[in-house]
Amino acid sequence: MHRCVCAALAVLSLVGASPTPGSAPPRSVPWKASRLDKPNEHVIFLQYGETEPALKLKETMPVEELNPTHYPARRAAAVAQHFLNARHGSPYKWFHVEQVQSATLEEIAGVGAKYHVVFSAKEGVCNQSVGLCTADVLFPEAGGDQTAPQVQCSCEGPLAINASAQEEAFYRRLRGSNSPVTGNNIPDSFGFIAPDMKPLWILAGVASSFVMLKESNENTLYNLAQVANVTQLESEDKQLKFQYHVLLHEMVSQEIIHWKLLVTWAPAGGVSVLHPERQPHCHDCVLPPATAPKERSDPE
Ligand SMILES: *[C@@H]1O[C@H](CO)[C@@H](O)[C@H](O)[C@H]1NC(C)=O
Ligand SMILES: *[C@@H]1O[C@H](CO)[C@@H](O)[C@H](O)[C@H]1NC(C)=O
Ligand SMILES: *[C@@H]1O[C@H](CO)[C@@H](O)[C@H](O)[C@H]1NC(C)=O
Repeated sequence: MHRCVCAALAVLSLVGASPTPGSAPPRSVPWKASRLDKPNEHVIFLQYGETEPALKLKETMPVEELNPTHYPARRAAAVAQHFLNARHGSPYKWFHVEQVQSATLEEIAGVGAKYHVVFSAKEGVCNQSVGLCTADVLFPEAGGDQTAPQVQCSCEGPLAINASAQEEAFYRRLRGSNSPVTGNNIPDSFGFIAPDMKPLWILAGVASSFVMLKESNENTLYNLAQVANVTQLESEDKQLKFQYHVLLHEMVSQEIIHWKLLVTWAPAGGVSVLHPERQPHCHDCVLPPATAPKERSDPE
């Protein structure tokens, strides 16, 4: 393990954030959410996509309490996790749901299924808690124009974990290198990730979150299974540029889905995914051993 020098900031630099949540969740939400309603300088308010009036609509439907350890709650929390990573991830910042604490579901006729989840989250590189997050995840009703879930998420803890020293060092190393970085099978068949490949693996995780966020619905649970390969590309500007081929695991269907992602990153600009391309289904693809279904025994 490399030495971790991230520092959580006591005072956050609130980029694109407001001190209190812009649209407070309905009063029926659990106590942990109302903690976040109080004026609190540690609250970061994030919004994905366009302002979504649907999230502020009717509260007339009954709100169902969900068991926070069951899949529906965990799937909604996973979508919020993808949102956090798409917004705040980097090769040295990767956020994970630690534990879902409470969850409710409200079916809104003509709009969709709105989950409200409260969960604790952690940054994985520093292994550091970022406190409680509350998220509204709206899965639009099938048949509409909108298919991607809409997410609002606020976290009380320091999302602005300061990994700038590592990010700068990694950036300089790759910018200055004569031969572009390449890698494949991350992790390898023993689950091993070489230390110098770790940031590229995490960057793949963050980039995949853009795709997993868009692709998720109420019945999916996506994970990054493996980086089949990654190649650093020439870049015209200050961004580092990578072509990734990633294998996403959808745990409900047990499907392995291949995506090609063109990913750019710079410490100042964050992660962008330029041309996500789902690859055609392929039977001969080599699956990572940890998640691979049993080999098909084809008749002769
Ligand atoms: C991460 O932190 C938790 C405490 O928050 C600790 O129990 C655990 O061992 C740590 N894991 C690693 C890999 O350092
Ligand atoms: C983050 O840490 C670096 C040193 O590692 C420091 O120079 C920088 O000022 C810190 N950033 C913030 C926002 O505190
Ligand atoms: C990357 O991996 C995919 C899937 O295994 C393969 O089809 C593709 O040719 C590989 N690309 C490179 C550049 O190695």
